[in-house]
Parts: sequence; C-alpha cells; structure tokens
Amino acid sequence: MAEQGPDGGTATLERVEDTVALGSRLGEQLRAGDVVVLCGPLGAGKTVLAKGIAVAMDVEGPITSPSYVLARVHRPRRPGAPAMIHVDLYRLLDSPGADLLGELDSLDLDTDLQDAVVVVEWGEGIAERLSERHLDVRLERVSHSDVRLATWRWAR
Ligand SMILES: Nc1ncnc2c1ncn2[C@@H]1O[C@H](COP(=O)(O)OP(=O)(O)O)[C@@H](O)[C@H]1O
Ligand SMILES: [Mg+2]
Repeated sequence: MAEQGPDGGTATLERVEDTVALGSRLGEQLRAGDVVVLCGPLGAGKTVLAKGIAVAMDVEGPITSPSYVLARVHRPRRPGAPAMIHVDLYRLLDSPGADLLGELDSLDLDTDLQDAVVVVEWGEGIAERLSERHLDVRLERVSHSDVRLATWRWAR
C-alpha cells in the first residue's frame, strides 16, 4: 500500500527490504545541500532507511547506527557526487537548545554541508534549520509485527 506525489507520500513497509527500497527511492531525489530528517521511535527503521538512501547516493558504507558518534561522513564513489553525512542526535535529545550547526562545525567533518546530503536521525525540530530544502520522514512501528508505516513530506 503506497500513495505518493511530488511533495510526499505514505507507504506500508512489510519487511526490512521494503524500508531499504523506500530509502533508495527517496535517495534518488536528493541533491547536495538537502537535509533528510528521520523521526520515529527506537527500532522504527531510521538507520535501515538511511542505508537505502546510501545505496541510491552510491556512497561508501557501511551505514551503521552512529549513536556513539554524532556524525559520520560517507564519501561518494563517483567523483563530484555529494557525500552523505549521517547524524544521530539521540544523545542531544536532552539538550533542546543544542546548536547542531555548531556541533557539526566542531566535528571538523572536512566536508561542506552545502556539498553533502545530511541525513539526521532524531533531528525533528532541530535539523530543519540546516536547510530550506528538507525531506521529513516519519517511521512508525505496528505493534507485534515487522510492519512499519512511513510518511514523508518535502519542504522546498
Ligand atoms: N519493515 C521493517 N523496516 C525496517 N526495519 C525493520 C522492519 N522489520 C524489522 N525491522 C528491524 O527493525 C530494526 C530497525 O532498526 P534501526 O533501523 O536501527 O532503527 P532506528 O534507527 O529507527 O532506531 C532492525 O533490527 C530491523 O531488522
Ligand atoms: Mg538508528
């Protein structure tokens, strides 16, 4: 079950592969300077979706949960293509005033945010400020099953 238009859509994701495939479809629409904000509870599939985005962007892996580091840079395999910066703000949830740009700056990522696609887990309410063009994705778990519900919307 899926419904989508140019500005957003919804999908029922029965299996892990479906979530990877959705990430990959959304990843094809991304370009340098875009921000993807992934929200939803622990285990909802945010990192799995980020893996799909990485497949479409053709960046170096592996994409793992960056919970213990704030961000990881995944370089493009094709020269000139944007890198993917994978951020996990879980540890910053208790600091609502957190200065994400400042934090990213201090990491010395060696990649200009404008030249990359920034994918942020737990970024709701913070990461949108990074770019006018952002894709918000919400993932929900259906209890007692592997099914995930996805809703996404483009702001641009
Ligand atoms: N339909 C599905 N989509 C995504 N993940 C699923 C699905 N069904 C089961 N899973 C499992 O749920 C977990 C999702 O983990 P993860 O992507 O790390 O979540 P998050 O980053 O949101 O905390 C994985 O262990 C994955 O194998
Ligand atoms: Mg995660």
